[in-house]
Amino acid sequence: MLDRVHPPIDRNREVVIRVRGVEVGFGEKTILRGLDLDVYRGEILGFVGASGQGKSVLTRTILGLVPKRAGTIEVLGQNLDELSPSERRLLERRWGVLFQQGALFSALTVKQNVQVPMREYLHLSERLLDELAMLKIEMVGLKPDAADKLPSELSGGMIKRAALARALALDPDIVFLDEPTSGLDPIGAGEFDELIATLQRTLGLTVFMVTHDLDSLYTVCDRIAALGEGKILAEGPIETLLESDNPWIRSYFHGKRARAAMASGA
Ligand SMILES: Nc1ncnc2c1ncn2[C@@H]1O[C@H](COP(=O)(O)OP(=O)(O)OP(=O)(O)O)[C@@H](O)[C@H]1O
Ligand SMILES: [Mg+2]
Repeated sequence: MLDRVHPPIDRNREVVIRVRGVEVGFGEKTILRGLDLDVYRGEILGFVGASGQGKSVLTRTILGLVPKRAGTIEVLGQNLDELSPSERRLLERRWGVLFQQGALFSALTVKQNVQVPMREYLHLSERLLDELAMLKIEMVGLKPDAADKLPSELSGGMIKRAALARALALDPDIVFLDEPTSGLDPIGAGEFDELIATLQRTLGLTVFMVTHDLDSLYTVCDRIAALGEGKILAEGPIETLLESDNPWIRSYFHGKRARAAMASGA
């Protein structure tokens, strides 16, 4: 288990993602109802909420993949609605994403997958592209021989690592991880958490992580935000969430699974 010391929250820290009054809906259905959220530079923010509440929708809205009906989103100090296409491209280079679904292109090898963002945004020789991809592959703890494998030849844990390597392809400031440890066994999930914490420390990343994994929330997240009824129900270090009297948060953090996570030394 990780022995992670959660740093105190400094309200003067730079906000790298600022979400204000965001409303998102599909047809008649409203998913996010005036949501506010800040993510600070260098933190790992765990984003929780019951299935279907809109965690992936918010992630995709921040990335500009889902239109919002109201509100503003600033990433790295830039209002996403005010960017020219070229400014937008420059900003996209500064974040990496591990999507919940379709982590990798199935017809491409791991190395080719990692090179997709590099080819899109950088102009580099093939030799340099290969060297950079191998560096990223090594960085996420995959062996060099994984580089030429197709996703179908990899285990679930290796796929997550390869997808993380692709998210890190452009040396981003921020990485968005949508349930990175779902489907992994507890040991595999723990190792992946440790990898994320190590990368966050060594690369100074800001990590926005959607997760259902209580171990991750206890061990790697600096702060947690809980989504429900279209808004943030509570946010802060785990201690703050543990004190919440919101019924969903209480049953999530004080239920049987939560007690098991705490007892495991997390
Ligand atoms: N493109 C879309 N069109 C219509 N409805 C959508 C679309 N994307 C998401 N939804 C709906 O928005 C709601 C929130 O979905 P979302 O995927 O964000 O949930 P989630 O919190 O990520 O859940 P899970 O924990 O299961 O991943 C769901 O009711 C979903 O059906
Ligand atoms: Mg989701």
